[in-house]
Amino acid sequence: MPKPRDTWGSRLGIIMAVAGSAVGLGNFLRFPAKAAANGGGAFMIPYFIALLLLGIPLMWIEWTLGRYGGGFGHGSAPGIFHSIRQKNRFIKYFGVIGIFGPLVIFIYYTFIESWTLAYSCFALIGKYAGITDQAGMRSFLSGYQGLEHNGYFQGLGPAYVFFLITFLLNIVVIYHGIKGGIEKLCRWALPMLFVFGFLLMFRVLTLGAPDPRHPDWNVINGLGFLWNPDFSALRSARVWLEASGQIFFTLSVGIGMILTYASYLAKGDEVVLSGLTSVSANEFAEVILGGSIVITAAFVFFGPRDIQSIANSGTFNLGFVTMPLVIDKLPLSAFFGFCWFFLLFLAGITSSVSLAQPAVAFLEDEFTIGRKKAVWFFGIATFVLCQPAIFFLKNGVVDELDFWGGTFLIVLFAAIETILFAWVFGMDKAWDEIHRGADMRVPGVYKFIIKYVTPLFLFVILGMWFWQDWIPFILMKNVAAADKPFILGTRIGLAGVFCILAFLVKLAWKRRRPQKAQVAR
Ligand code: ALA
Repeated sequence: MPKPRDTWGSRLGIIMAVAGSAVGLGNFLRFPAKAAANGGGAFMIPYFIALLLLGIPLMWIEWTLGRYGGGFGHGSAPGIFHSIRQKNRFIKYFGVIGIFGPLVIFIYYTFIESWTLAYSCFALIGKYAGITDQAGMRSFLSGYQGLEHNGYFQGLGPAYVFFLITFLLNIVVIYHGIKGGIEKLCRWALPMLFVFGFLLMFRVLTLGAPDPRHPDWNVINGLGFLWNPDFSALRSARVWLEASGQIFFTLSVGIGMILTYASYLAKGDEVVLSGLTSVSANEFAEVILGGSIVITAAFVFFGPRDIQSIANSGTFNLGFVTMPLVIDKLPLSAFFGFCWFFLLFLAGITSSVSLAQPAVAFLEDEFTIGRKKAVWFFGIATFVLCQPAIFFLKNGVVDELDFWGGTFLIVLFAAIETILFAWVFGMDKAWDEIHRGADMRVPGVYKFIIKYVTPLFLFVILGMWFWQDWIPFILMKNVAAADKPFILGTRIGLAGVFCILAFLVKLAWKRRRPQKAQVAR
């Protein structure tokens, strides 16, 4: 007799968990880097349009589909898609992406998350305190990542220890389940993250113009860098792509984990206001906290030109190179340095546990093996899969994983979800389902947006990518010759993992016919 599925402890619990999943490294590392690299204000218009036309609709779609599939005892995309059209034998295979994508992100995300835990400790003990310029801080980061041997680090040892600690913490949280692990973590980590965020924002917004040689490098102009709109950028396809990609990544939509989180809701639980609340919490953390802290701080110390070139030189440079240098110029630098990196760690762990949950839910629900066993399987498999990301970082493995898991598959999966929801499930039925138990009504215009605008927008993005980037990407045109075997190896490995997951889906359905009746909860 299978055990009943886990549930959330309260409505606030799931909102905090979804917000915890959304608020992540993407908000504080990826967003400032993308916004700064794309000209600040030029980025924000496509960003908000993508939020309204892609992000919010997909959040509602995932909450609704997840809750619907959960009613049939399914907590991951294959089962959830199967419950939409049970007679169709193929629909569940689209759902493989909803397990594979988060798994791929989890593989590199936990490693990057572990850097933030390490840097929190380094800030407290003053390990990088004597470094005063970008080159020194870059060298510190490269030494830590094992990319070069230098006076700061002699190998990957410290990074590996912090990875092990971070990985184990993730596994322990998932092991304790939805209510006892993930919800508990998010209930204290999210408020703490916001306290650190407010402290840092307050500190940065009271910096004035710290460099007397450049009075115009001040807080107001720093904020203006992000908030003064630049309409000319609307003609740039690249800015649209970057902005849409950021919306998906930051809201955790198009990945599969919100589907899974929502599957633990009861049939009449609210999704409209709850979904919107989690979007609002994420956007507050991203544009208000992430934008004000990182962009303004970098602007007042390095000016408008350098901020763009720093962001262009790598996603992590603003967070791991520039921020420590800025904070080191302030009083109480060890404390504020700790606040910054521990904020990143909290943001990271509340997201990485959500990346793990679709695979764990799949094993639990479709093979009825129990959570603890499922977490063991997941832990062993992902521990092995994490190794190439750690040891071959310099060969571009993380960038490759990020392209597939964190960029391409997200848009593809979002397109699949939207089509299934609006066209296969059917918009009228979908509209009723969204509003079941709802505290507010979705504005009527969203019926049109979800049915036509969101899918069209997604297909245009996929088409533009295909046109602009895919051929050189697939042919590894921009990859150094020495790295090609590693990239090829990563692709073959990913294809293998995908096939194994697809096979597991096939196996699961062979074992569990006929389809369960809808579970009354
Ligand atoms: N939404 C998560 C982030 O922003 C994945 O990092």
